[in-house]
Amino acid sequence: MQWTKTGWLALAAGAALLGIACSQGADEASQGIPLSPAAEGQQLYDSVCTACHNLNPSAAGGLGPPIAGSSEALLESKVLRGEYPPGYTPKRESHAMIPLPYLKDKIPALAAYLASVQAGS
Ligand code: HEC
Repeated sequence: MQWTKTGWLALAAGAALLGIACSQGADEASQGIPLSPAAEGQQLYDSVCTACHNLNPSAAGGLGPPIAGSSEALLESKVLRGEYPPGYTPKRESHAMIPLPYLKDKIPALAAYLASVQAGS
């Protein structure tokens, strides 16, 4: 009797551990384990924006201008809609950047990253 109870407990604990391990694996596969907004923004910047902007956001890239320190309002208009906030003077007159509306939930993360590099930290 006693053995069976212990056996069940061990089995339950094992299953719980397995569950944790699996969910962590899934997180790692998609985004990496809990990232700070700036770190998530950096991942996005490095994988998406550097197609045209410099890996160093403070420098001009192959196509895009430096964008370190870009405000959330600017990022929202430019990245999601290809527009600029009212009264903003664009760094370039071109319209070569395609809007990337699928990033709509990621603007704060991008802004956090671009603010952190602006501050030099
Ligand atoms: C297809 C190339 C390309 C990609 C990809 C791209 N950009 Fe751009 N970006 C540009 C170009 C070129 C400009 C200059 C204006 C124009 O031609 O649209 C620009 C301008 C900007 C501006 C306005 C700068 C200013 O102050 O005038 C911001 C902000 C910006 N990009 C952010 C981003 C972010 C964030 C990403 C990634 C999520 C990104 N861009 C991805 C090419 C690109």
